Amino acid sequence: MDLNDLEQIVKKIYVATVPGEDVVVLNKSPLEMIGKGRQGAVFRFTDDIALKVYGNPEDCEREYYALSLGQHTNLLPKIYKKGENYIAMEMVKGIDLREYLQSQPLTEQLSQKLIEMLLTFKEIGYERIDHHKRQIYIQDDLSLKVIDVGRTVWRDRVYPYPRKLLNSLGEDYKQTFLEHVKKFAPQLYEEWQHYIQMEEIAKTLSRELMKEKINKKRLKHSQEALSTLIDPEVYNQSVENLFFKIFKEEWVRIMLARGADPDEIIDRLKREGITISYPENLLPLSNEKKNAVKEKKKKKEWKKKKEKKKKSGKKFAEENTEEKKEKKEKKKKKKKEKKKKK
Ligand SMILES: Nc1ncnc2c1ncn2[C@@H]1O[C@H](COP(=O)(O)OP(=O)(O)O)[C@@H](O)[C@H]1O
Ligand SMILES: [Mg+2]
Repeated sequence: MDLNDLEQIVKKIYVATVPGEDVVVLNKSPLEMIGKGRQGAVFRFTDDIALKVYGNPEDCEREYYALSLGQHTNLLPKIYKKGENYIAMEMVKGIDLREYLQSQPLTEQLSQKLIEMLLTFKEIGYERIDHHKRQIYIQDDLSLKVIDVGRTVWRDRVYPYPRKLLNSLGEDYKQTFLEHVKKFAPQLYEEWQHYIQMEEIAKTLSRELMKEKINKKRLKHSQEALSTLIDPEVYNQSVENLFFKIFKEEWVRIMLARGADPDEIIDRLKREGITISYPENLLPLSNEKKNAVKEKKKKKEWKKKKEKKKKSGKKFAEENTEEKKEKKEKKKKKKKEKKKKK
């Protein structure tokens, strides 16, 4: 069969997506269907070429993009041809991890390959680097290949650790894999543990939260209690407050643009009984060229002043203090060693 025939063959395959279920397929082509999922159905075009027909052209576009990102790696099926709703790609052979692990152990070597896989995903720019074990295949040459990568790209929210992979491994293999990660990449292990624990806490909280009763009466009352529209006096006062707040901010901005000293402005406002909650927010927005240089200088000086005040007042527990100390000490040691050598 020739790839040029594809267009005609695909016309005889009808694939429709169904929310929450696998696609529905009507196959009037001579091709054998080898599998289907939520987005598409996959057919044997030749022994080496699989044809995935999508219910949705956007899903096709997305998986095509995801596959394209990794064509230079060995991890993804090669793309042979793309149409509006289909991709002809390399037939992935071998055995998927779900089947493999039913009879074989999760060795350190295999864990290494899985970590390598995550690395490659990250390197080629996948937003989600998380896969179910049944989408990961071990090839005859012991390399891994991954199918069904559409959902790895164009996403906003993803789990910050390979949650799906871990959970799909099942409790025992999950622990084994984590042990291996702990051994070879302890910091990564710690990070995953952190997220896993957070998830546990979130789960517990969510469960507890579910138990709470909804107080409909009180919530209904809240719209009156919180509303500023019901009482004309309250409404008038609210509008006045709003105007006043904006005026205050703008006034400060203009004063700053004119070169006034921020501390003086704050003092002046204080004398009027007005406090500025976040003075940093009121730093001049310098678009007036004349004063731009002056402003910058003043801004810097003022910031410095503030910094000094802050530092003398409080000692902020710096993040990574331990690490920084260690680095400093290491540097010192190195210097000493250099001196010794000389
Ligand atoms: N490149 C491929 N080579 C071999 N089999 C494949 C290939 N792509 C998909 N399959 C088979 O088709 C099934 C459905 O494909 P999949 O990509 O998971 O579709 P969906 O995006 O709808 O979930 C897979 O579970 C697998 O058995
Ligand atoms: Mg799938």
